Amino acid sequence: MADQAQPVTMDQIVSLSRRRGFVFPSSEIYGGLGSTYDYGHYGVLTKNNIRSLWFRAMVQERDDIVALDSAIILNPRVWEASGHVAGFTDPLVDCRTCKLRFRADQLEFARCGRKPSKRPGETPDCDLTEPRQFNLMFETHVGALKDESSAAYLRPETAQGIFVNFKNVAQLARRKPPFGIAQVGKSFRNEITPGNFLFRVREFEQMEMEFFVPPAEAAGWHEYWLDQRLSWHRSLGLREENLRLREHDETERSHYSSATSDIEYLYPIGWQELEGVANRGDYDLTQHTEHSGTKLEWIDPDGNRYTPHVIEPAVSIERIFVALLCDAYHEEVVGERERVVLRLHPAVAPVKAAILPLIPRDEGMATRARALYEELRRYHLVEHDEGGQIGRRYRRQDEIGTPWAFTIDEQTLQDETVTVRDRDSLAQERLPIGAVRGWLDDALQQEWSSPQAP
Ligand code: GAP
Repeated sequence: MADQAQPVTMDQIVSLSRRRGFVFPSSEIYGGLGSTYDYGHYGVLTKNNIRSLWFRAMVQERDDIVALDSAIILNPRVWEASGHVAGFTDPLVDCRTCKLRFRADQLEFARCGRKPSKRPGETPDCDLTEPRQFNLMFETHVGALKDESSAAYLRPETAQGIFVNFKNVAQLARRKPPFGIAQVGKSFRNEITPGNFLFRVREFEQMEMEFFVPPAEAAGWHEYWLDQRLSWHRSLGLREENLRLREHDETERSHYSSATSDIEYLYPIGWQELEGVANRGDYDLTQHTEHSGTKLEWIDPDGNRYTPHVIEPAVSIERIFVALLCDAYHEEVVGERERVVLRLHPAVAPVKAAILPLIPRDEGMATRARALYEELRRYHLVEHDEGGQIGRRYRRQDEIGTPWAFTIDEQTLQDETVTVRDRDSLAQERLPIGAVRGWLDDALQQEWSSPQAP
């Protein structure tokens, strides 16, 4: 392992995630279920951090956005009105030879099921069907009867739960356009070709915000939200050179969109959509007004009525999670020893600090370490680790991205100071044990940028 000059690969990310218990294949003892994953301890902690940083930026720190948590299974008429029953489809082709299915619009990225693996359709052996439209919504049934009348769908986006609640929220939240409704929750899509770890999965957690604006202001707010969301991704520590904006051309846009730009990240699989910021116009409120008979409009104090236009920043925790791990991953040799380090922003890192007694069987060190851990854990997610040699413990913490380690050693017993080790610079300094809590509070408030930036 040399200092990593090569870009990180998805295999390195998958392997670290597995080794350190961030993410593992779901229902693995039964052979798994294609592209479905479970999150272990550090994965849950990281996801919680991403979610709460999003919520903080989108709701807590603003006056003009309120929260909502709508149901996953809605009245199926919602999905007829929204256009998902008719139009939420991908073109699918089957290969009669290798029996695999592919997205007809992404054949150049697919691999045929026969060896040596080729692009589907590349050899005369491939026998592809004509493309047909495949709806991505998962169907289910509500109640004891399993017939057409009980059919329903797992939501493929959280957005529709927001639109159908527009009237409720607008009345109760005492907000007038421009104002937004934010929601975080699971969405489900029966993707034809899931893959690339968490990048494209069938069950994922979306963070969406629908911002309702007077029609004439829509273009300006679209620009505003693109800018805000790009800054937010930078604030998580994602490196500038790995982020860019890309505008959709007309053929790419979803059925509801009058303009969409993606915030793209340079994943190991190339530039791909991290977050979409769409101008949905009045499409959704108009559709639901027509289908439900309930007027979803705004009446201003002098009686003018209008249907607000909607700007929608939409992202999944999974896409952010993968981008953060790829951006932070680094292999290097330090003092002839190899280490893998995750240089995560401290706000994102699952564990903020490790408390390590140098010699765990030394009662003086053990007692002080335990007391410090019990003090700090009341305020921050910290870890007490007394298993194995100190070097191995440091490496374990480096791999999960813990920004600081406080080590209790012989000197602590004499002068009640501890060593603070910095994950990125490996610099060490000594602090009075009584000052550790204040030091950590301050350190977590500091601005942070990736030491891996050029
Ligand atoms: N409400 C708009 C909407 O759902 P989208 O572009 O289909 O738009 C929004 O999805 C975001 O959800 C994407 O930018 C991506 O971050 C995430 N996303 C979509 N499909 C996903 C999948 N199969 N796996 C993981 N994340 C996904």
